[in-house]
Amino acid sequence: MNYLAGGVNSPIPIPPGYPKDIISGRGPYVIDKNGKKYIDLWMGYGALIFGHADKDIIKTISETIKNGWFFSYQTDIEKEVAEILHEIIPSAERVRFATTGSDAVAYALRLARAYTGRKKILGIKGGYHGVHENMMPGSGTIFNLTPDLIHFNDPKAVEEKLKSKEYACFILEPILANCGCTPPNDGYLKKIRKICSETGTILIFDEIVNGFRIDVGGSQKFYNITPDLSTFSKAIAGGLPLSVVCGKKEIMENFAPQGGVFFANTFNGSPLSLFVAKTVIRKLKDGNVYKKNMKIGDDFREFLKEQIKRIGISASVQGISSMSTMAFGCKSFEKGILAENYDSKAYNLFIQKMAKKNVLFPPLPTETIFLSPVHESVFEEIKIAIKKSLEELKEEIY
Ligand SMILES: Cc1ncc(COP(=O)(O)O)c(C=O)c1O
Repeated sequence: MNYLAGGVNSPIPIPPGYPKDIISGRGPYVIDKNGKKYIDLWMGYGALIFGHADKDIIKTISETIKNGWFFSYQTDIEKEVAEILHEIIPSAERVRFATTGSDAVAYALRLARAYTGRKKILGIKGGYHGVHENMMPGSGTIFNLTPDLIHFNDPKAVEEKLKSKEYACFILEPILANCGCTPPNDGYLKKIRKICSETGTILIFDEIVNGFRIDVGGSQKFYNITPDLSTFSKAIAGGLPLSVVCGKKEIMENFAPQGGVFFANTFNGSPLSLFVAKTVIRKLKDGNVYKKNMKIGDDFREFLKEQIKRIGISASVQGISSMSTMAFGCKSFEKGILAENYDSKAYNLFIQKMAKKNVLFPPLPTETIFLSPVHESVFEEIKIAIKKSLEELKEEIY
């Protein structure tokens, strides 16, 4: 008997052929209770930047846990990691630790509204920033507090909206990762930075997926654009729950107890997660993982494009570094795939064929594919499975 409501712990249904009884993970694999191994291309929604059961993270957890793992007093590790983040993230003049990505975004929005005295929020069509009423149209809520939405990569729309000076903030992922991985067009981030400054609108980069993926200083460092506030989570603690809100001192110091903006959660800044974050950042700092991710991501996309062309399927492939999307039925996309006529049926069929060959793509076409250096050892296996699955798909529906 499965007592989970709806049989799952998220809104995403389990596709046919996907495992329902995972008991462990190792490197590129998740392993079910019968010992069957699947190559994982979803990697904990991008949190597992070094793959499953990384040995340095295991060591940190085992050493930390001996000394207790949760205290309601201030810890040394929170100050230490805050200082590390201040040194590596351009916008991190001040830092607060929270628990989930949704918390971090909720705090950033609350802070932006309090600081500007404005109510409205501007966001991106197809963007995702967490579960709360503030950001979720169609969540089943009776409240209507959701943001105004415009397309990604459209600076004119930003200008048009923000000139009213009614918006507290503009929140976006610098690289769209929740509706088909879409990097910003040249100059887009620079233009929106300028418009936000001119209109007194707080620019929030939601780096919950982007952060630590392409540069240890976030995509803000990679693109050299500094937002007023930023949020981080997922990869920062290698799969343990931790999130970050950081930003300009003048804005951040409005959080209670110094200011009036409420900020609380029992597990905020969990010491265990913070010790792991310190290990993750130390491992990422030498830049080797980024070099490997850039190469494996480029090779992966190149291979997909070659196969799509060779077999004659209508699909496009896009991404940056370890983040990719394959969108069937789409020639290209620069506003995310929801703005296009993408073919979700073909994607669903394709991933079921891949699962039969023991390779798991993300279960939704809008979700990003995440690779990491641990995939180097199984890259040939992934390529063979893709080639065969695309050929089968062509026979069946194209
Ligand atoms: C960009 C972005 N922001 C916020 C969130 C919410 O994070 P969490 O699921 O940890 O609450 C997500 C989750 O996928 C996300 O991708």
